[in-house]
Amino acid sequence: MIQKERTLSIIKPDAVSKGIIGAIISRFESSGLLIVSAKMLQLTTDQVLEFYNEHKNKFFFKDLMEFMISGPIFVQILEGNYAIRRNREIMGNTDPMKALAGTIRFDYGESCTKNVIHGSDSESSAKYEIAYFFDI
Ligand code: PPS
Repeated sequence: MIQKERTLSIIKPDAVSKGIIGAIISRFESSGLLIVSAKMLQLTTDQVLEFYNEHKNKFFFKDLMEFMISGPIFVQILEGNYAIRRNREIMGNTDPMKALAGTIRFDYGESCTKNVIHGSDSESSAKYEIAYFFDI
């Protein structure tokens, strides 16, 4: 069965500063996910508060905030069959120590904060997150 979906992916500041944008994008493309739009930007504190609002009261929010504003990010829309689930499989667990071998976070992640990449976790969050960054 084919279920064509779109999802939002963010290559986080740790990965951008390590120069591994290309390596990460290659993994999406070789898994059949197409990049349909992309841009580089630096988040403000207000944007992090808005985008990660559901986590604002969690113990890790300060670390998440400091990290996400620490440098440029690369934001993209991925499209493909079951793109939301597929993307999260390719990313691996939030905690790189728990991520499966061969996933992006297993290979490049350092901690739950410096974990290289973000991906929408549901159809509704994909819709919201894509609209947050793109006008399409
Ligand atoms: S939760 O608590 O289950 O909702 O967390 P999760 O959805 O796995 O991740 C929430 C985002 O916060 C970042 N972050 C951390 N998560 C868990 N623990 C610690 N210590 C932590 N620090 C930061 C984590 O990378 C997730 O970011 P995104 O961009 O959503 O992947």
